[in-house]
Amino acid sequence: MMDENIIWQPAKVDHQERCERLGQKSLVVWLTGLSGSGKSTIAMEVEKRLFAMGKIAYVLDGDNVRHGINAGLGFTKEERTENIRRVTEVAKLFEDAGLITLVSFITPFQEMRDKAKEKIGADRFLEVYVKADFEVCASRDPKGLYKKDIKNFTGKESPYEIPNNPDIILDTENDDVETCVTQLLDAILKKI
Ligand SMILES: Nc1ncnc2c1ncn2[C@@H]1O[C@H](COP(=O)(O)OP(=O)(O)OP(=O)(O)O)[C@@H](O)[C@H]1O
Ligand SMILES: [Mg+2]
Repeated sequence: MMDENIIWQPAKVDHQERCERLGQKSLVVWLTGLSGSGKSTIAMEVEKRLFAMGKIAYVLDGDNVRHGINAGLGFTKEERTENIRRVTEVAKLFEDAGLITLVSFITPFQEMRDKAKEKIGADRFLEVYVKADFEVCASRDPKGLYKKDIKNFTGKESPYEIPNNPDIILDTENDDVETCVTQLLDAILKKI
């Protein structure tokens, strides 16, 4: 809710100066896909490689953010939407600070991804579809979630909308982790 008594305070350091200080352009890299598709695996490895190259990157991971700022939010459509709204705002702050921000959240609805892109700005946003179908993800089940009976689980009771027009598709069913990481890293390096 907007309050007329809350007045925007302009900074005296601008975005460009922050990026110059860090020696990079900022970017939000948004990884979407089913649970177990490989978002965290790829995001964490890409962050490590960027760090090794002297770049400043940070992963906002769905599980980790749900432990903190989004603790208490569940998995109804409304709560998922609020989960993504908040992480979009955090990603925007990180992006403004000049960081390469990797967001690894299921982000199941196209509308959520479109809003994130609009909020951050299309030229500073990479939408990455981490592609593996339900059966493959269920057979991987890295966190043991598929074998539990979880309410509103994505791909079961709750839908996953395949991205309309992602910037990149990482095919984790057919390509190994190294191939996907290299593919994403190459795309990021072109933008920073
Ligand atoms: N090409 C690949 N890229 C990423 N992960 C892969 C690939 N091939 C196999 N895997 C395996 O798939 C699993 C992906 O699990 P991960 O936790 O990264 O998924 P996630 O998308 O973050 O899921 P969640 O939404 O539940 O957080 C890991 O066990 C990983 O080793
Ligand atoms: Mg994950």
